[in-house]
Amino acid sequence: MIEKQEKSYTDKEIYRVLHPWVKKWFSGKFETFSEAQRYAIMDIHTGENVLVSSPTGSGKTLTAFLSIISELTTLAEKQELDDNVYCIYISPLKALDNDIEKNLEEPLKEIEAIAGMELGIRKAVRTGDTTQYQRSKMLKTPPHIIITTPETLSILLCAPKFREKLSNLKYLIVDEIHSLADNKREYI
Ligand SMILES: Nc1ncnc2c1ncn2[C@@H]1O[C@H](COP(=O)(O)OP(=O)(O)OP(=O)(O)O)[C@@H](O)[C@H]1O
Ligand SMILES: [Mg+2]
Repeated sequence: MIEKQEKSYTDKEIYRVLHPWVKKWFSGKFETFSEAQRYAIMDIHTGENVLVSSPTGSGKTLTAFLSIISELTTLAEKQELDDNVYCIYISPLKALDNDIEKNLEEPLKEIEAIAGMELGIRKAVRTGDTTQYQRSKMLKTPPHIIITTPETLSILLCAPKFREKLSNLKYLIVDEIHSLADNKREYI
């Protein structure tokens, strides 16, 4: 059952739950949280399942990533990041590159600059074009965040060795959900 989130949080309340480096990054980059972020970040932080619906360009993709980046930053600082996949991000191929650059690569790079250290949060894109070499590398040292398409995920879930790496998975982001629900293909 879906319940509408009626509570919107203030900047101060959201900043309180973010890692100080992430807070510093966000506040240096943006003036304030967008409406989608005010309603959803806190619930993602507390581990609720959240469906975010708001106009294009309103910061939804970053809404999804921000608490995850913050939690992984906390673990990285304490050197407690395991060799497991923490987050799977699913999006159609055509949306992947730009969204990931803006909402994951760039934030992580800039947060590392603020931290003055490498965080070692590994991310990897896995699609039909991923080479055998890259695939076996991912199996040996799994990315903490795996970025993939619905089609590739359905194949990954059938790979017993890789599935082991997903046993501690904490976050699943399904972005551009309209493009999945839009057609007649079936996904698991
Ligand atoms: N709080 C914020 N204030 C200003 N800009 C922001 C904020 N959060 C994210 N942005 C920026 O706004 C732009 C659009 O954000 P994003 O792509 O996350 O929107 P979206 O809602 O996911 O859009 P779409 O529905 O097209 O996927 C990005 O460049 C992002 O960095
Ligand atoms: Mg988006």
